[in-house]
Amino acid sequence: MKMILLGAPGAGKGTQAEVICDTLHIPAVSTGNILKEAVRKGTELGVKAKGFMDAGQLVPDDLVISIIKERLAEPDCAGGFILDGFPRNVQQAQALEELGVAIDLVLDIEVADEDIMRRLTGRRVCASCGASYHTAFKPSKAEGVCDRCSGELIVRADDAPETVAKRLTVYHEQTEPLKDFYEAKGKLAIVQGQEEVADTTKLVLDTLSRYGG
Ligand code: AP5
Ligand code: MG
Repeated sequence: MKMILLGAPGAGKGTQAEVICDTLHIPAVSTGNILKEAVRKGTELGVKAKGFMDAGQLVPDDLVISIIKERLAEPDCAGGFILDGFPRNVQQAQALEELGVAIDLVLDIEVADEDIMRRLTGRRVCASCGASYHTAFKPSKAEGVCDRCSGELIVRADDAPETVAKRLTVYHEQTEPLKDFYEAKGKLAIVQGQEEVADTTKLVLDTLSRYGG
């Protein structure tokens, strides 16, 4: 299964990717997480990307496309993968096609803008493994500590309310047109994001089983 998770910032792409990974035993590839790691380590890529990310804008296409090209060539992606946060505009989707990647399913998680702010201000992420939690909707077992790897849970730099608003604008202008792009190819399935994480997971897994996952 080669699939794409689409959705606004905070729609739950990372949260559902964790479940799909465990269910289908395929890796999740999050360009956002790869970029954040590069920023944290201060690599050349991180230095180039940081300003765009802090401003809630997209990082230039050439940078993210080369990240994807390298990552998908690794052996663990041979049996399938979940793309979380890529492609994010039509040019990136076309680049994926040019790389010869045939996508089986594009799963779009729909959440209203007014719910996004609530989700992102309560979000906590693991500084070590990137796992995503929420103070109210998906608390960790021990406060401030990751269930998976015992890493420290932190607030993401781009979850400040004014940056979230910018990210939503970018999403509607640049990423949302991908729904039509993949609908026209017969690849799009839409899941309505639910109030509870587990309810969204059920819809996601039901959809996957309909598509042979
Ligand atoms: P990225 O890290 O991809 O951020 P994003 O798309 O804005 O998405 P998020 O990670 O914020 O949200 P999510 O959908 O994963 O939600 P989550 O599961 O955490 O990208 C960051 C930046 O990198 C971009 O702004 C850009 O600059 C750059 N970038 C990345 N990819 C790029 C690309 N391809 N091209 C150019 N630039 C790129 O859930 C959110 C919260 O809600 C959590 O707290 C979670 O616990 C909670 N939650 C989840 N589901 C539910 C539910 N059903 N009910 C209640 N709460 C829920
Ligand atoms: Mg994410």
